[in-house]
Amino acid sequence: MKEKVKVLLTETEVDARISDLGAQISKDYEGKEIHMICILKGGAFFACELAKRITVPVSIDFMYVSSYGNGTTSSGNVKIVKDLDEPLLDKEVLIAEDIIDSGRTLHHLIPLLYKRKPKSIRVCTLLSKPERREVEMEADYTGFTIPDEFVVGYGLDYAQKYRNLPYIGVVEQ
Ligand code: IMP
Ligand code: MG
Repeated sequence: MKEKVKVLLTETEVDARISDLGAQISKDYEGKEIHMICILKGGAFFACELAKRITVPVSIDFMYVSSYGNGTTSSGNVKIVKDLDEPLLDKEVLIAEDIIDSGRTLHHLIPLLYKRKPKSIRVCTLLSKPERREVEMEADYTGFTIPDEFVVGYGLDYAQKYRNLPYIGVVEQ
């Protein structure tokens, strides 16, 4: 049976919020340069839209990580499937992530990245589901705080589908 997708956040709402985030980030990083790290695959759509709305210089690099563990719940270890191309030394790193759920991915990734001696690391996430948190992880910039529901669109997938939706939706069976 084909699942249905109910709109949670419209394209207009998401775009407006990304503009707000871009403006805030541009202000906070005035006089600096941002090295954006896009976490694939989900973060790609958000990272591009965000980067377009930032007015300080932005360089961008991509990383693909997967948390591996016992099936459905991640053990909290994170495996780098595709590493960054550029070094992070002395850079102002801004991680662009689609969603923070348990918090485990970033909780384990950030210390790994600090070993590469960036000047700073901040996190910008489009969505956050605080009710699902298993480890402490608060983003520096959060687009929307949402309830504990499985969402798709704007890079987020359900079995690799729906990443291309221009809005955030909830999957209904
Ligand atoms: P966590 O914060 O380590 O639990 O994992 C976050 C990752 O899980 C995200 O980057 C997504 O790839 C995936 N994820 C978590 N919640 C959802 C959701 O509601 N829809 C789609 N993917 C999700
Ligand atoms: Mg992800």
